[in-house]
Amino acid sequence: MRIGIVGTGKMGREIEVAAAGRGHDIAWRLDSKGNVAGKGITPDRLAAADVVFEFTAPAEAVGNLLALAAGGARVVCGTTGWSAELPRVTEAFVRGGGALVHAANFSVGVRHFFELATRATRLYAPAGYAAYLVEEHHAEKRDAPSGTARTVATIYEMETGRTLPVTSVRAGTIPGTHRLVFQSPEDDIEIVHRARSRAGFAKGAVWAGERIAGRTGVYEFGELLKEAVVGA
Ligand SMILES: NC(=O)c1ccc[n+]([C@@H]2O[C@H](COP(=O)([O-])OP(=O)(O)OC[C@H]3O[C@@H](n4cnc5c(N)ncnc54)[C@H](OP(=O)(O)O)[C@@H]3O)[C@@H](O)[C@H]2O)c1
Repeated sequence: MRIGIVGTGKMGREIEVAAAGRGHDIAWRLDSKGNVAGKGITPDRLAAADVVFEFTAPAEAVGNLLALAAGGARVVCGTTGWSAELPRVTEAFVRGGGALVHAANFSVGVRHFFELATRATRLYAPAGYAAYLVEEHHAEKRDAPSGTARTVATIYEMETGRTLPVTSVRAGTIPGTHRLVFQSPEDDIEIVHRARSRAGFAKGAVWAGERIAGRTGVYEFGELLKEAVVGA
């Protein structure tokens, strides 16, 4: 695949490594200076890339996605903190005839963590256990709680009708840790996902890019994984 990259920060660089490892070519990359108000997303660039990866910042993602959608691009977006705008972005991709796969977390390990969170909530909440979640990320992460923590909180709320207390820590260089705890007067149960690096996020994102090349529509990463598991 020919790849375009919007956002050349930690994840953009990690995507390059993962994509090169899969034999893909980096056609172009855009940093913030080359893309003020989404102006770097030009028809020439879009024609030169089969899939575009958008990993920027919460305040930038929607503008970039709307520009990419208008050009009919196929896009993998991992930027977090813009999910309230998903309906508008979805409409733009449907209108533009391109494709989008989005996720707050492209790690396959985290996807299974969501399944464990669902199962554990079903077991421990009715048994009277109190639950909370602590998420830890590096000091530069702009949104809090993380998109992953929000997903776990939504799972918990859907299962119990109650709010999951979430605490966010922003410090040092932590790639991302989520610890879901169920607590009773007698014992604690902890389910922990600890990313060792950003490589797992990039691997999942590149896999998602390979899945949507040649497709149209808007997908959440989990939908593509489920399709792959059942062989659709
Ligand atoms: N879904 C996942 O699996 C996953 C995993 C990790 C991180 N993330 C999310 O991905 C996003 C990026 O994370 P990161 O760790 O790579 O952050 P980062 O290191 O801060 O990189 C973001 C980059 O985007 C650039 N940028 C900002 N606005 C831009 C624009 N309009 N056009 C082009 N580039 C622009 C920034 O440039 P300047 O520095 O010049 O502003 C910066 O280089 C965050 O929202 C993070 O939460 C998602």
